[in-house]
Order: sequence, then structure tokens, then C-alpha cells
Amino acid sequence: MRISTLIVLLFLPFLSLCLCVSPLSLSDTEIWSLPLKPPKHHRNKYPLCSTNAECFKKGLPPLKPRSKTKRHELKARQSASATTVNGIIQVLNSSGTPIGYVSGTVNSTYGGYGMTSSAANAMSVSFSPNGNSPVTYTLSSSQRPSGFPYLGAVYGGGTSAMNFASTDYSYAFVTAVNTVIPVGPAVASASNNRFNSAKGTETSLFTYNSASGNIAATWTNTNSAAVSATIIYDVKFALFYLISNFSAFQKQFPNEGEYVVTWKLIPQ
Ligand SMILES: *[C@@H]1O[C@H](CO)[C@@H](O)[C@H](O)[C@H]1NC(C)=O
Ligand SMILES: *[C@@H]1O[C@H](CO)[C@@H](O)[C@H](O)[C@H]1NC(C)=O
Ligand SMILES: *[C@@H]1O[C@H](CO)[C@@H](O)[C@H](O)[C@H]1NC(C)=O
Repeated sequence: MRISTLIVLLFLPFLSLCLCVSPLSLSDTEIWSLPLKPPKHHRNKYPLCSTNAECFKKGLPPLKPRSKTKRHELKARQSASATTVNGIIQVLNSSGTPIGYVSGTVNSTYGGYGMTSSAANAMSVSFSPNGNSPVTYTLSSSQRPSGFPYLGAVYGGGTSAMNFASTDYSYAFVTAVNTVIPVGPAVASASNNRFNSAKGTETSLFTYNSASGNIAATWTNTNSAAVSATIIYDVKFALFYLISNFSAFQKQFPNEGEYVVTWKLIPQ
């Protein structure tokens, strides 16, 4: 028997096993938000600290130096003088009324972030604003899921993969990410985000208005175009999403109780 035939025969039982598992009996509009795989824990695979100062404080070895050749990476000159802002994220409804806080605890059902009514449990972030360029927010070391120190979003769906189109229902789940992804198109990898989805992850997402305290979101498309994103809360799944067009999203997902919110930083 030829080796290749043998290999095929060896794998046949697995192949048929895969094929006989019937798809979930959910409507098309519901399948989208179910995670493909249960979240995996990457304990100790990634650094438990995100800056050398933090590693030092925790008695951990310094971070491995990163390659200097990555696109859009901050030059030493830019990062040295940057001011760090710290605070918790409050949630306002579209009338501007505070309705809660972004939870600092990742929901282990999906690996995304939802809402909490308690300021003590609110998500605590730090970041260095860079004018109108979106930056990466770092999650406080006491709250972040192990190995995922950064706030990010992973693409969920839309008519053009990894893109936010102005007239479709494109959306991304707010989650925790293991690495800083510079301003640019999403990076597809199931292991870079706590949602365990390989649909495309970004972390350079947020700009901050220090006068109002408001946090605005920007998604970067595959052609590097920056798209202003709307932040919504989805009641059915108890998760925040970034989306491109609320009426198109509502039309696609009419039964999720979703509504538009504003995120506001309460400096700490
Ligand atoms: C915002 O919340 C307040 C207080 O609960 C409520 O009175 C108001 O109707 C809400 N606005 C919207 C647009 O839901
Ligand atoms: C949102 O999408 C709809 C089509 O679904 C379109 O008619 C509308 O103009 C879009 N809104 C914006 C602000 O682009
Ligand atoms: C976590 O997600 C599940 C499923 O959507 C939801 O039922 C639950 O309320 C969420 N938990 C929290 C703390 O938000």
C-alpha cells in the first residue's frame, strides 16, 4: 500500500466524524456571535507585565526587545514625552445619562466585555493620547485576563472581511489582546485575542477628548482607511461592540436590544 493511501485511510474516521456533526440549529443571524471555540487560556505564554517598569515592580524579567522595523512604530522621541492618562470608563446612553461602567472583568462566556453598575468593578485603563491618531489602551494589571494586557476589538462580521463599510452591519467585539497592534489593518490570529477569533484584531482604536472626557473609536480598514466607529451595547449578549452603521446593524440583528452608547473616561 502506498504511504499516501495509508495516510488517507488513517484520517478517514476523523474526517467522517467531522462531517457528521450537524451545524448548530440557530438562525443565520444568531450564528455570528457564537464563539467558534471555547476560550483557551494562554497562561504564562505571554508576559504578565506590559512595560519594563511594571515588570520590575512585579519582580519579573524585563520584556524581550521588539523589532524596530514594524510599520508605524513609535519612535523613541514620540514615546518619551507622552503623557499617560489613567481612568475608569463610564457608559452614557444617547441622552448623555450615565448608565453604568464598562466592566473590568472579561466575560468568560465569550471573552468580551460587558457592563457593570459598580464603579469599583469598572474597567481601569491607561494610555498616552496621540492627538487624532487612535492609540492602544492598557488594561490595569489587576483586572486584565492573564496574558492579554491590552484593550482591543476583534472583527465579528460584515459584507467585506475585516472592513467597516459605511452602509453595512459591520461590527467588532470589544475584547482583550496580547500585543499592541500598530495603527493599520486588523491582524488575523485566533491567539492574539481573548475572544479566540481569527477574523482580525486591532488595538490602536481609541482617541480621547480631554475636555469632554469622551472616548471615540476608530476602526482601520484593510486599505488603511480610518473609519469612525460607533460604540454600542448589545443587551442579548451583554457585550460592547464597535460598529459602522447603527441602522444597518439593527436591521441585520433586530432582536438584540442594542443601543448606542458613549464611553467617558473618569480620570483617576
Ligand atoms: C437615558 O437614561 C435615562 C435614565 O435612565 C432615561 O431617562 C433616558 O430615557 C435614557 N435615554 C435613552 C435615549 O434611552
Ligand atoms: C447606513 O446604511 C444605510 C443602508 O443600510 C444607508 O442608507 C445609510 O445612509 C447609512 N448611514 C450612514 C450614516 O452612512
Ligand atoms: C456573560 O455573558 C453571558 C452570555 O451572554 C451573560 O448571560 C452574562 O450575564 C454575562 N455576565 C456578565 C457578568 O456580564
